[in-house]
Amino acid sequence: MLRIAVLGAGRIANIHAANVAANPDVILSVIADPWREGVDKLAARLGCTAAYDCAAALERDDVDAVVIGTPTDTHIDLMLRAVKLGKPVLCEKPIDLDYAKAVRAVEEIERQNGKVMLGFNRRFDPDTLAMRKSIAAGTIGDVRQVVITSRDPGLAPVEYLTHSGGIFRDMTIHDFDTARTLLGEEPVEVMAIASRLVEPALAQIDDYDSVMVLLRTASGKQCHINCCREAVYGYDQRLEVFGSKGMLLNENHRPSTVRSWTATQTEIREPLMNFFLERYADSYRIELEHFIAAVVAGENLPSTARDGLKALHLANCAIESIKTGRAVAVQA
Ligand SMILES: NC(=O)c1ccc[n+]([C@@H]2O[C@H](COP(=O)([O-])OP(=O)(O)OC[C@H]3O[C@@H](n4cnc5c(N)ncnc54)[C@H](O)[C@@H]3O)[C@@H](O)[C@H]2O)c1
Repeated sequence: MLRIAVLGAGRIANIHAANVAANPDVILSVIADPWREGVDKLAARLGCTAAYDCAAALERDDVDAVVIGTPTDTHIDLMLRAVKLGKPVLCEKPIDLDYAKAVRAVEEIERQNGKVMLGFNRRFDPDTLAMRKSIAAGTIGDVRQVVITSRDPGLAPVEYLTHSGGIFRDMTIHDFDTARTLLGEEPVEVMAIASRLVEPALAQIDDYDSVMVLLRTASGKQCHINCCREAVYGYDQRLEVFGSKGMLLNENHRPSTVRSWTATQTEIREPLMNFFLERYADSYRIELEHFIAAVVAGENLPSTARDGLKALHLANCAIESIKTGRAVAVQA
């Protein structure tokens, strides 16, 4: 049985730790986080050891693989330590905010033949998996255009936004990865516009809350990404893939499909799922299952540190496009 350490006891690590604990094929050995109160509570709830030093937890004899859910600026240090120990890693996005540092890390990982899977969980959303299967089966012919809408229900706290790396590297990074996987080709050109329509004070941290991005691949395939930090009606997550023989559409999720009729309104549906922890609950579980299956079988991981680098690069190209007002060529 693969024995796993979860690093972090915050929002996302809570999800990962619970999924590891619930998976019958692995053992949750330890959860590590310098936040003693949080990690003690989580480890007690899930019945594993609590530790306060993430680097030391990696070295434990009862740890064969690692899930990293700590803040972004700790990802590279922790993943490189794990790679050096020969332990496979599932690490949260983004790989880092510093592109040059991420390039060096990915080169080092590849040099050591390290196993690092970047946690682009939306790849494993059942709907997205079904879309990719359908595209691969040729159902809609050749993909021509992808439209991605990704809007959060509300603006995150300023403290979070200040350290997030900005909307492109923190939020749209998921959509850059989705674009790459659905287009089936690498974008070669990025054009972006960005505004502060929700919170003008974001200017103080050089960030935006409402952005649109256009991507073009070498063969001319197109993608349009819409992101906003506030949608008053809930978590708005839609995908459209248009091809030479048809179209695939993935609509928003609700807690149920029930509709109601009353004297004053008709066809009333429940509100959209509120945020990522609910909407993408399945994706985090399935992502972990793919990680475990690949590690146990000794197969290639379904996403890599280099995928993290490519998404970060597209985010940086979008930022450059905003600063220059021009389309930016994606240099490899
Ligand atoms: N894939 C997704 O949908 C998704 C969603 C949310 C967050 N994330 C990513 O997960 C990471 C964590 O985000 P979060 O929202 O869970 O943050 P969080 O603040 O809720 O949790 C981070 C945890 O890390 C701990 N920590 C702080 N400094 C540390 C250090 N130096 N070393 C080790 N641990 C430290 C904190 O005590 C805290 O418990 C970020 O990289 C974020 O981008 C991904």
